[in-house]
Amino acid sequence: MKILNIVGARPNFMKMAPIIEAMNRYPDAIQHVLVHTGQHYDQKMSKAIFDDLGMPKPDIDLEVGSGSHAEQTARIMIAFEKVCIVEKPDLVIVVGDVNSTMACTITAKKLGIKVAHVEAGLRSRDMGMPEEINRLCTDVLCDYLFITDHFAKENLLAEGVAEDRIIFVGNVMIDTLVKHRKIAEQLDVIKKLGLEKREYATLTLHRPSNVDDRDIFEGILKALQVISMELPVIFPIHPRTRKMAEQFGLEHYFNVGEKVEGVWITEPLGYLEFLHLNMHAKLVLTDSGGLQEETTVLGVPCITMRNNTERPITCEVGTNVVVGNDGEKIVSAARNILVGNKIPATIPEKWDGRAAERIVDWLVSCLDSSVSVSVHD
Ligand code: UD1
Repeated sequence: MKILNIVGARPNFMKMAPIIEAMNRYPDAIQHVLVHTGQHYDQKMSKAIFDDLGMPKPDIDLEVGSGSHAEQTARIMIAFEKVCIVEKPDLVIVVGDVNSTMACTITAKKLGIKVAHVEAGLRSRDMGMPEEINRLCTDVLCDYLFITDHFAKENLLAEGVAEDRIIFVGNVMIDTLVKHRKIAEQLDVIKKLGLEKREYATLTLHRPSNVDDRDIFEGILKALQVISMELPVIFPIHPRTRKMAEQFGLEHYFNVGEKVEGVWITEPLGYLEFLHLNMHAKLVLTDSGGLQEETTVLGVPCITMRNNTERPITCEVGTNVVVGNDGEKIVSAARNILVGNKIPATIPEKWDGRAAERIVDWLVSCLDSSVSVSVHD
């Protein structure tokens, strides 16, 4: 079975790494080819994460780079179509919800190639999010939908997806966290920054809905500044956020000094360094998707600065609270944690570090009739 594994943007890498590792257990059954679309291309957004995760170099790099949504999607489709024609895969695997996920799904399906989506069925019901459009287009086309939780199954069934296309495997991003947790814990990142455990917060902020409108962006920055009077907020800044802050003249909210205080910005961090910081943080402020899941497993309180989440399981059983982007609500949620209120949390079912094994075992046993394996439950 020849499989093309697709990655494009940073959050794809930690999802694909365990899948590749699990595929390597079946060298006779699976020939896999890693395709990087080049959606993320900065050293710190791409190669550094590959290195941290011990991922092989991409076999094929489409080098599409940035552009408007239509430009980027179109460039990926044009380049990926050529790859599919030459490689003739039996299956394409896409992960997550970025433009690369959708673009490669459409391209492969139009060539009659089967596609599997890992992390299918998540829904924010917010069509203002480019990722929601990517998720909907991808899931409606994919042949096999690997899901992380019961919400995803309910969403897909409600959209009329046949039940036999839906496979509950757990969460591949958590596979990567489980694998690297011990190594990350032993790093000396906080020591080097002169910090103590649970005496700082970490922050990610890059969604267009939060940083593309000056007033909303500034409102969030003001709230973060208030929080940072109680404990420093470490902010590995995303390139698009930096660009918008410069454009709006909002850089004065950031501290770029040596001492970690205020809203302290740093370049995008490696996977292990950031995991180290998150596992020891007092709280995490974010508008990312994956971080809501990682904090749930780490047991660290997470404040999500969005009006909705496609990952409600992290609120149902995990440490996540969704507060929107109103400054007062962000500050009040942080105060609630700082005064010692705990969010009772458990880890969702099958988020145990073995999701990728389940996916690959399923692929081999169900799609390659020449091999017999016992599929993990
Ligand atoms: C993309 C995903 C988003 C994900 C995020 C994680 C889509 C629609 N969005 O958002 O779901 O949460 O990745 O990081 O696919 N840029 C650089 N260097 C890079 C990459 C991007 O400078 O290596 C800058 C460019 O100015 C670019 C902008 O960031 O125009 C946006 O990049 P893009 O890949 O379009 O989307 P992200 O905001 O990164």
